[in-house]
Amino acid sequence: MRLKDCHNFQDFRKLAKRRLPGPIFNYIDGAADDETTYDRNTQAFRECDLVPNVLTGVKDIDMSVTVMGQKLDMPIYCSPTALQRLFHHDGERAVAAAAEKYGTMFGVSSLGTVSLAEVRKKHKNPQCYQFYFHKDRGLNRAMMESAKEAGVEVMMLTVDSITGGNRERDLRTGFSIPFRLTVGGIAQFVMKPMWGINYVTHEKFAMPQLDEHVDMGSGTLSISRYFTEMLDPSMTWDDVAEMVKFWDGQYCLKGIMSVEDAKRAVDIGCTGIILSNHGGRQLDGSRAPFDQLAEIVDAVGDKIDVIMDSGIQRGTHVLKALSLGAKAVGGGRFYLYPLAAAGQAGVERALELMRTEIERDMRLMGCKSVAELSRANLRFR
Ligand code: LAC
Repeated sequence: MRLKDCHNFQDFRKLAKRRLPGPIFNYIDGAADDETTYDRNTQAFRECDLVPNVLTGVKDIDMSVTVMGQKLDMPIYCSPTALQRLFHHDGERAVAAAAEKYGTMFGVSSLGTVSLAEVRKKHKNPQCYQFYFHKDRGLNRAMMESAKEAGVEVMMLTVDSITGGNRERDLRTGFSIPFRLTVGGIAQFVMKPMWGINYVTHEKFAMPQLDEHVDMGSGTLSISRYFTEMLDPSMTWDDVAEMVKFWDGQYCLKGIMSVEDAKRAVDIGCTGIILSNHGGRQLDGSRAPFDQLAEIVDAVGDKIDVIMDSGIQRGTHVLKALSLGAKAVGGGRFYLYPLAAAGQAGVERALELMRTEIERDMRLMGCKSVAELSRANLRFR
């Protein structure tokens, strides 16, 4: 199987599985507990049908959206995700370059493997920063200052990861960062020699957003331990209100699910909220963002940009979310498998397929622009 044989999410997933050492593949692919929320996220879209209109003259399609002050050429962006250097040696650099080509937003995580300033300098497309709130307040302040200085457009505070989700696949594989060459690791290296050769012959693994501040010593840290030991579970709305003020720009909360919290986000001056359950990786049993979207849009959609992520695999999923009132959608695995499968070329192919699907599906729906999509085009079973 090669990149040109990949036509959808599942194809990229298969190719990524072939290329990556098991623990790394399972880190991307896995979710919390029984992974029921992970499954539900995509299932939710299947319970909603599209009702197209015809004969509307759909020669030219404009799928651009403006969200949190950023004009995006397509309504899906590449959500910031951690550790991309592990998935492909070009990591975030590949994703940023591909996203620029397609005129959409990308992000760098606090756990990113490239400096947010480096990619901000290199590319023109909007960039967001997936921020984690650490126990060390000095670290939080320093991280925000460097993002400001770099000119990052959107601050995206993750609020659903105050403690590590129970990712049992990672427990079984012993996945940790930096990726350790234990006996098991060496076995993986032998089984996936291309990944191993690329990993050791390219720039050393680093997490520039944290490196200066966090001493991992000679040990390694699991993602769950990072969340549990380093992030501050005492974070409250007052802490966030302070950060919103300090940032003084586009600021959104990723992981809002209740109407009450959506209203609070408006009250403290956020400009966006992202309905998300972290791709099912945190609280298993949590509701799917798509199921919760209408209620939140109805409550705060005229005051704040409502966005969603989790479970999006197809152009029609994007259109269903937009029809319910989302301003844009984010996706993680939809570009991470392609990144692992083929680096920048993989991410470009994923974005190209998504763009083509959205364009085709808008035509089939009889909608020339995103503004023409509405709830009149949807029926829930
Ligand atoms: C995860 C974090 C790091 O889901 O975003 O693994």
